Amino acid sequence: MNKNKSYYISTAIAYTSGKPHIGNTYEIVLADAIARFKRLQGYDVYLQTGTDEHGEKIELKAKEVGVTPQQFVDDVATQIKDIWDIMNTSYDRFVRTTDPHHEKVVQHIFKYMYDKGDIYKGQYEGLYCVPCESFWTESQLVDGKCPDCGREVQSRKEEAYFFKLSKYQKQLEEYIETHPEFIQPVARKNEMINNFIKPGLQDLCVSRTSFKWGITVDFDPKHVVYVWLDALTNYITNIGFDVDNTTDEFKYRWPADLHLVGKDIIRFHTLYWPCFLMSLDLPLPKQVFGHPWLIMNDGKMSKSKGNIIYADDLVNEFGVDAVRYYFLHEIPFAADGIFTRELLIDKVNSDLVNILGNLVNRTVSMNYKYFDGIIQNYNVKEDIDDDLINSVIALNNKVSAKMDELKVGEALQEIFDVLRKCNKYIDDTMPWTLAKDESKKERLGTVLYNLLESIRICAVLLNPFLTQTSDKIFEQLNTEIKSWESTLTFGNLEVGKVLAQPVHLFDRIEVER
Ligand code: MSP
Repeated sequence: MNKNKSYYISTAIAYTSGKPHIGNTYEIVLADAIARFKRLQGYDVYLQTGTDEHGEKIELKAKEVGVTPQQFVDDVATQIKDIWDIMNTSYDRFVRTTDPHHEKVVQHIFKYMYDKGDIYKGQYEGLYCVPCESFWTESQLVDGKCPDCGREVQSRKEEAYFFKLSKYQKQLEEYIETHPEFIQPVARKNEMINNFIKPGLQDLCVSRTSFKWGITVDFDPKHVVYVWLDALTNYITNIGFDVDNTTDEFKYRWPADLHLVGKDIIRFHTLYWPCFLMSLDLPLPKQVFGHPWLIMNDGKMSKSKGNIIYADDLVNEFGVDAVRYYFLHEIPFAADGIFTRELLIDKVNSDLVNILGNLVNRTVSMNYKYFDGIIQNYNVKEDIDDDLINSVIALNNKVSAKMDELKVGEALQEIFDVLRKCNKYIDDTMPWTLAKDESKKERLGTVLYNLLESIRICAVLLNPFLTQTSDKIFEQLNTEIKSWESTLTFGNLEVGKVLAQPVHLFDRIEVER
C-alpha cells in the first residue's frame, strides 16, 4: 500500500432510532461523491459509515414496540443500509456499535483512560435531555429547554465517571489555532473557540447508570459507557485500533483525512473526540467538516410537522441520479438548503434533461444520422473549436480545486457550465447545415468528434456525482477510456469505433398545474 495515497473519509454513524430521512441520507451521498472523486484521482480511499445503536432512546423505543433493543437496532440498521445502497453509495465498511469487537475495544479504551487518571468517578447532577443523550447546565438551556432539540429536560443525579476534558483544554485550543484546516467551514471553528473553549471546558460525564442498553463498563458493571464515547471511537475501533495493539491497517489509515458530520454534532467531533484521542496519544483527524442541513420550506423535518421525506420514495419516483444531483448541487457549502419537490422537478428538467440529456442524445443521434454511428475525426479545425476544447481541458483543474475545498455543488456547476458550452457549440456550428454540403463532411466529422470527446471528459468527471448516468454515457460512447489522466488531454476517444444507439438519459417530468 502506498502511504501517500491513503484517504480515509467517514460519515457520522446514524442513530438507529428510525428510518433515516433525506436529511440523514444527504450526508452519505455527499461523502460518497467525495470518496468517488478521490478514487478517480488515484487515492486508496476508505469510506466508513454505519450506525450508532446504543442509548436510552433506543431502549425506550424498543420497549414501546415490544421487541428487544437488539432486535430493534437490527431492523433499523438494515433499513439504513438499504437506503445507503439505494443511493448507490460506495462505502467500504458499514460499522455498527453493537458489533462485539467494537464493544470490546471501547471497554479497553475506557479502562485505559481510567488507569491513566483521565477518567475518574464522581457524582453527576444536572439537566438531562433523553433524545440527545446530553446533560446540560441551567445556563445552557434555551427557554428552559434543550438547546439542541428544544425538548423538555429532566433533572437527574447519579454516580458517574467523568472524563477530564479540562486537562486537554490548552492542548486542544493550541491545536485548533495552529491547524486552521482542522474545523471547516471556518465559521464553525470560531463558534467552537468562542462558545465552548474560551469559557472553559467542563469535565464530561462518560457513564450512565439509569439505563442498561449500552456497553458495560467492565470493571464497574452498574455503568454503561456514554453513547458519544462509544460512538466516536467507531472511527478507530473498526480499522484495527486497540489500546495495546495497533494493526497495520490502523497505522496506514489513521489519522482520518476527513470526518464529515452535520453542523449539529461538530462540537462532539472537535472538542470531545480530539481530547479522547489525546488521552490515547493518537494523532487527531486532519479535518472535520460540519456540513449544513437539508431542511423543508417550513423548517426542520419532524414527525410532528408531518413533513418527513424518505430518499427511497424519491428514488422510486425520480431515479437515483436525480436525487443525488439535487443533494449535491442544491445544498450550499455553508448554508442550509431547502428541499421542495417543485425545485427537484425543475432541476431535473432544466439541468439533467435540457443540458445533459439533450446534449448526449443530440450528439449521438447526429453521429448516427451522418456517419452510421462511426466516430470520425478529420481534424478540420476552426477557431471556434479552441474555446470549447480549452474549457474542456481546463475542467479537471477547476473541478479539483472546488473539490479540494469540499465545494461539491460548485464542482458540479463547473461541469454543467462546460456542458452548456457544448450545447452552444452545436448551435454555433450547426452540424445540420454542414451536413447539407458534401464538401463540409470532414468538418462535420470534426465537430461531432469535438462534441463526443467533450462529453466523454465531462462523463469521467461526472462519475463521482452521477455514477449511473456517467456509466450510461460511457456505454453510448462505447468507450473504456475513463481514467483521470484521460481528462487532461483532448482527443482520447477512439476514432473508428461505433457508438451504441442513442437512448434518453432522463425523461422530462411533466407537472400537472
Ligand atoms: N449518532 C450521532 C452521530 C454519531 S457520530 C460518532 C447522530 N446521528 S443522527 O442520526 O442524528 O445524524 C446522523 C448525521 O445526519 C449527522 O451528521 C447529522 O448532522 C446529519 N443530519 C441529520 N439531519 C440532517 C438534515 N436534515 N440535513 C443534513 N444532515 C442532517 O447525530
